[in-house]
Amino acid sequence: MQLKNDRYLRALLKQPVDRTPVWMMRQAGRYLPEYRATRAQAGDFMSLCKNPELACEVTLQPLRRYALDAAILFSDILTIPDAMGLGLYFGEGEGPKFQRPVRDFVDIANLPIPDPEQELRYVMDAVRTIRRELNGSVPLIGFSGSPWTLATYMVEGGSSKTFGTIKKMMFSEPEALHLLLDKLAQSVVLYLNAQIAAGAQSVMIFDTWGGVLTPRDYQEFSLGYMQQIVNGLTREADGRKVPVTLFTKNGGLWLEAIANTGCDALGLDWTINIGDAKARVGDKVALQGNMDPSILLGSPERIRQEVQMILDGFGQGTGHVFNLGHGITPDVDPERVSVFIDAVHAFSRTYHMN
Ligand code: CP3
Repeated sequence: MQLKNDRYLRALLKQPVDRTPVWMMRQAGRYLPEYRATRAQAGDFMSLCKNPELACEVTLQPLRRYALDAAILFSDILTIPDAMGLGLYFGEGEGPKFQRPVRDFVDIANLPIPDPEQELRYVMDAVRTIRRELNGSVPLIGFSGSPWTLATYMVEGGSSKTFGTIKKMMFSEPEALHLLLDKLAQSVVLYLNAQIAAGAQSVMIFDTWGGVLTPRDYQEFSLGYMQQIVNGLTREADGRKVPVTLFTKNGGLWLEAIANTGCDALGLDWTINIGDAKARVGDKVALQGNMDPSILLGSPERIRQEVQMILDGFGQGTGHVFNLGHGITPDVDPERVSVFIDAVHAFSRTYHMN
């Protein structure tokens, strides 16, 4: 079926568009009262992820409020470690935790590589349900965590500030960590290719914690495995290219290396000027980003001003997908999101006139 709005896919492939497409990381989430109501109905966050009808419902909620140019599958990056048997849970008011973190070579050697249509079938069912319900209105983004980012949660047992446990493994048992990262890379390739087969029209890899590494360790323990994934992905479906976006938070110093993987687009956080990023890698890849999500806590005037500055920073032409530099936070007023989306729509046309 023909997509009614394909600006997002076109911009990722640097094809001409009439205005800059926009979506928001974590666009389905706790800042929306309707999300909180559906989550309460599901019971908890993982029950919401595991119910394809409700996952579809929360995926569509932000699209009913705002003229977004893409939908993102409602799920989590930690579904893969959960499917490997680590026992994911979310304590009330806490981040993610694992009942059985991996600690040594034996734990890692015993980890299975999940079959996406078995242990992760609920994700594929959600993708199929969402594609059906979107009915060609906008493209659907599939996603996964990067092997390094998934490994941080699996080895630390949850969120961390210092990454002491995984770094200890990195410096004392690098073979064990490499085995884990290789299993994760294989799992992510199967998982993303299954999402594409189920209907995802583009995929994004979230490397939230690559930026805590030294440049050399980033290359060896994070980027190398994202490269393995890029090499293994299905890049075409239904006669269209399936663009791949890599996002390393705090990865602004390494844009050239990330662009060299052969991905189609880079996600940028707000610590880099988008014009500088374009000058460095804009001939190779499209750019997604990069407004500080906290700007959404500011006044409507301040939000409009920031949107204008980022559009100006990128300048004329295609190759830009407007987004936040990280996920929207639960304290944002949904009205401010309207101001943001409307500003991107209104101000971006003049950058696509020729
Ligand atoms: O963008 C979207 O709307 C799609 C859904 C999505 C979620 N998580 C839903 C979610 C996506 C793409 C993710 C990715 C994810 N999950 C990442 C990478 C991106 C990033 O934010 O850095 C990471 C590191 C995770 C792991 C994770 N899941 C954490 C650290 C948390 C707790 C965060 C918090 O704010 O409490 C989650 C839970 C989670 N994932 C929520 C949502 C909407 C909040 C859960 C709730 O409803 O209480």
